[in-house]
Amino acid sequence: MCGIVGYVGSGETVKILCRGLKGLEYRGYDSAGIALSERKGINVVKAVGKLENLEQKLSGQDFSTAGAGIGHIRWATHGGATLKNAHPHVSEDGRTVLVHNGIIENYKELKQNLQNKGYHFVSETDTEVVVQQIEEELKEAASPTEAVLKTMNKLRGAFALAVMNTDFPGKIVVAKRNAPLIIGQGKNGNMAASDLPAMAGEVERVIYLDDDELAEISEDEIKIVNAAGQVVSKTFKPFNLAPEMLSKRGFAHFMLKEINEQPGIVRRMLQKYLSEKGVQLSGLNLSWEDIRNLTKIEVAACGTSLHAATAGKYLIEDLAGITVEVEPASEYIYRKHPESRNVLVIGVSQSGETADTITAVRQAKERGAHVLAVTNREDSSIVRYADSVIGLEAGIEVSVAATKSYTAQLAVFYLLALYLAQERQALDEDCLRQTEQALQAVPSQMEEILANAAVVRRCAEKYQDARDFIYVARGVNIATAMEGALKLKEISYINASGYPAGELKHGPIALLDEKMPVLSILMPGSQNYDKLLSNSQEAKARQARMIAVTSSADRQLENLFDDIIRVPQVPELLSPLTANIPLQLLAYYMAEKLGRDVDKPRNLAKSVTVE
Ligand code: AGP
Ligand code: GLU
Repeated sequence: MCGIVGYVGSGETVKILCRGLKGLEYRGYDSAGIALSERKGINVVKAVGKLENLEQKLSGQDFSTAGAGIGHIRWATHGGATLKNAHPHVSEDGRTVLVHNGIIENYKELKQNLQNKGYHFVSETDTEVVVQQIEEELKEAASPTEAVLKTMNKLRGAFALAVMNTDFPGKIVVAKRNAPLIIGQGKNGNMAASDLPAMAGEVERVIYLDDDELAEISEDEIKIVNAAGQVVSKTFKPFNLAPEMLSKRGFAHFMLKEINEQPGIVRRMLQKYLSEKGVQLSGLNLSWEDIRNLTKIEVAACGTSLHAATAGKYLIEDLAGITVEVEPASEYIYRKHPESRNVLVIGVSQSGETADTITAVRQAKERGAHVLAVTNREDSSIVRYADSVIGLEAGIEVSVAATKSYTAQLAVFYLLALYLAQERQALDEDCLRQTEQALQAVPSQMEEILANAAVVRRCAEKYQDARDFIYVARGVNIATAMEGALKLKEISYINASGYPAGELKHGPIALLDEKMPVLSILMPGSQNYDKLLSNSQEAKARQARMIAVTSSADRQLENLFDDIIRVPQVPELLSPLTANIPLQLLAYYMAEKLGRDVDKPRNLAKSVTVE
């Protein structure tokens, strides 16, 4: 949530800041703003809504004297999406300007103190207290760096800050706690940003600030100090994220591009970890003995990552015979966990920055559990608390709706389940090898589904008038149903729920009538199939509009379902990898037909860095 960026150098400051904000747009789009250090002083330009509104305001103006600037893209936490609340915020004396990502938990108390001293506030944000506090500290402090340091030591909560002051042109001070901040060094200047895409093509080396560190950035120097004001020395790492990596490559939206990348991602993952000798999971630092002694696995995650973990529970319990508890991270962190010996705790997070998931793994580590982080960003905060890390290697996911990272997370859970089964000898060799072989065939089957996307598009056209949707499944595909419903909700704004099919008759069946589509994920291979057929019959008897996603070739299904999306036959346990693709496409085409902003759905941000 929220993205901040800062630049000092000889390049075109406004262009670099706007490109930077573009790379952070997935983090919020309630408002955008920049502050420039120009010859005439500090100039602030902001606009409500998406970045393009800011760009329009900026176009045609001359900013040639701007040698430094800071920028912000907002996902509002305190105060509505208004111009007054948009960042950058300016101190009362107009000399200090600031952008902030995070939440200042003690802002009320600080605000009261400052108001008692005569400060006036213009916004409803928590952020504004920081800039006023810096102004207050500057009365005594020798430099903005010292004032920011003093202010930082008074703040509670999460923040990444970038600050400029009129008396110190050409300098930006940045600081952070519990929110990401990266500093980049380039040929034409230095930068700071919430995430790497903001610096693509601009810098060649990066360093990650740690909590309670502060950096003073000028064109030719980057000085880092800790909370005590002592200089910290850090080593830059090479950085090379080509701007093309962030392009749609001819697809209409990032989401569609990312859906189409999925077969390649799974194929690469299998090539890396699976061979004739079985699975080798290099990222998991558990000895054979540790694995043998595992009594339980706990998984904490949010949103789509939680759904991948839900499928993971079925896979690990089925293949490796270990009990798995899956819980939303926001609940996991407020519950007692009496056992931690011989418990593996897995935090699953595409971004690696989700506040609740980070808290969950941090707590688990403090309790002495072994923590495995499964993330697409091996440079992210979650990694800091992990004993083991398995990367998703899916490449940067730009669309706010997660697709390829879900599939990559599923792939990790297949590999993990097979690895644990192999090490614990929980399955006989033949069964293991057969599952592995079937898994190897999945990427091509996924490609087949993508080649038939037109069937799903037609289905989307037919159902675009629906205002509610129910997805049902049994067994491992309950995760698929929940994820399919989440995708539809988030990008098309159609109300959708994913249920275990057996639960339909315990309440949701009351919703069924001739307007309600019920989508059954129907995979032959176990008694789930017959039971789900009966549940679908029950829905049909209530006149629901019936859709099936199935690998069954049974023609009789045509009597029961109005529309059938057929997917290739795979063992039921592997079908979440295939069944999910038509559901992603259905959500995509529905949203597109309804004219939604597919890659940037309203109210959402890709990286949820607040609890
Ligand atoms: C996915 O489509 C969502 N936008 C969201 O639910 C997301 O999965 C969730 O916020 C968790 O993010 P993470 O995987 O980066 O932790
Ligand atoms: N709390 C700040 C605001 O609402 C920053 C929001 C964020 O980082 O999510 O403006």
